[in-house]
Amino acid sequence: MERYETIAELRGALGAARRAGKTVGLVPTMGFLHAGHLELVRRAMLENDVVVVSIFVNPTQFGPSEDFATYPRDPDRDLALLREAKVDVVFAPTVEEMYPRPLQTSVSLKPLGEILIGKVRPGHFAGVATVVTKLFNIVQPDKAYFGEKDFQQLTVIRRMVADLNLPVAIVGVPTVREPDGLAMSSRNVRLTPGGRHAARVLSAALAEGAAMIEAGERDPAPVLAAMRARFGAEPGVTLRSLDIRAAETLDPAPRIDGPVVILVTAEVGPVLLIDQRTARPG
Ligand code: PAJ
Repeated sequence: MERYETIAELRGALGAARRAGKTVGLVPTMGFLHAGHLELVRRAMLENDVVVVSIFVNPTQFGPSEDFATYPRDPDRDLALLREAKVDVVFAPTVEEMYPRPLQTSVSLKPLGEILIGKVRPGHFAGVATVVTKLFNIVQPDKAYFGEKDFQQLTVIRRMVADLNLPVAIVGVPTVREPDGLAMSSRNVRLTPGGRHAARVLSAALAEGAAMIEAGERDPAPVLAAMRARFGAEPGVTLRSLDIRAAETLDPAPRIDGPVVILVTAEVGPVLLIDQRTARPG
């Protein structure tokens, strides 16, 4: 496994692979890897000759009062996991390498980047879309892998690639969960034992909502009410947002007539968790 910190070195190495006719897959991450990230890596390894995993905690997607400084980091463990997974290339640039001077250019999506999580985290999706564009231009992958767990992020990236004709195929990978249903996340390590137990309500409520839709419920109101009641019965978790949207566009779904996604954000102590589940009317 090769590890590069600079764009020039990485480009040199990938240029040789591309001239040899090899396909390149990219898995962008912010590190502190877990089984969810490794599932993206596994898919990428199956579908590409060369796999690049980027590790970069991107400051521009964190708001001023968010957890950039305390975002969990463990580069040695990440490298050991990627070596074990037989990844070819790790790209781990510094902030200075990615942002040598303040950017005057950014990629933002309106309204997709400003609704739902974008409303609570102003500028977040512009930070994501811009850094992912930079990574696409640096690596020039044939395919890039993103988790469905961050469903709005995946939707934003797909739309950006379509709008700007970026020559990369986006692959969405289903959410990897703990045995009790909790979606794997780098932030889960910050849950207290009590918080970790309480956090099961996210996936449990999503399962209940999806089951109602699959059983034929076309009106979102009773689905949302049943899910809210579940959260109400769990004092350790504060529901921040709950939405049912059209799965492809994230447009409001006043009636459930096609595939939808149920999106949840909730606070468990100081930790913001997000989860989602898709459902089609039965
Ligand atoms: P990060 O949170 O590290 O996630 C990297 C990728 O792993 C994302 O595509 C995310 O959706 C996926 N992922 C996380 N948990 C998952 C799970 N339990 N199952 C499946 N996939 C999972 O998302 C980011 O980093 C950043 O915003 C990034 C795209 C790297 C841009 O900075």
